[in-house]
Amino acid sequence: MTGRRQNPLGNEEPLLSVLIIGGTAAYGLDLTPWRPAGPVFSLQTPYGESPPITLLQPDPGQPSVAFCSRHGKDVLQRSAAFLNHRAIVWTAKMLGARTMFSWNGVGAIHPSLEVGDLVAPADILDFTRSRITTFGHPDLKPASGPAFHPAARAAIQSQIPNPQSQIPNPVYVCTEGPRLETEAEIDLYRRAGADVVGMTLSPEAFLAQEVGIRYASLCYVTNYATGREMGRPPKRQFGPEVARTCLPILLRAASLIDH
Ligand code: HPA
Repeated sequence: MTGRRQNPLGNEEPLLSVLIIGGTAAYGLDLTPWRPAGPVFSLQTPYGESPPITLLQPDPGQPSVAFCSRHGKDVLQRSAAFLNHRAIVWTAKMLGARTMFSWNGVGAIHPSLEVGDLVAPADILDFTRSRITTFGHPDLKPASGPAFHPAARAAIQSQIPNPQSQIPNPVYVCTEGPRLETEAEIDLYRRAGADVVGMTLSPEAFLAQEVGIRYASLCYVTNYATGREMGRPPKRQFGPEVARTCLPILLRAASLIDH
């Protein structure tokens, strides 16, 4: 699989426009309503095996899209702290993707965020400690500029219901895991400007930037971050509704961006 195929004129064209990386609950998602174009497959990358990938049948005039479950197939095979981010991003490159959209569960830090809310983060605070954050390839420049591609992010944001209730320029703090944060850590992140907390977007977003792929994310608030209940009853939403909500939003966003 080279990520390129012959178009009707005999020229090579990328196999794919958009790779959608599914996070929370993606492994249990039945893709039938989104018309899989063939069996689930994996690619061998120089960094290890990719998670499972499914090509989806595009509607006429729509971009070619594939779906990749970040945490594995059928069950949570790898939790957020143990992902092979380089294999995931290199897979997108091998498939010729110009854009990566992902969804991921987050804990709410900002007091106005509720479980079930959707956020397209504008920036990252990276508090990971032991992840490989670069391909280290001499031909690739380290990531710079906005952590999320502005047009890709705008496409996602435009598809979030009730965009007027969004907090402006939400900041995602990425923690190392696998343990949950302490209350003191969450207080620190809040004072540093974080609105939501998760364990996935670094280095995924930075590696995508390094290989020149536009990257943006949709965060689903699955819980209140440690100590951030603020009198509200504890609530957790990690079930199939996360995937069923996020995939259609990202597919609509994929149809909006320039290919
Ligand atoms: N902390 C870190 N990662 C998460 C959380 C959280 O509260 N919720 C979902 N992913």
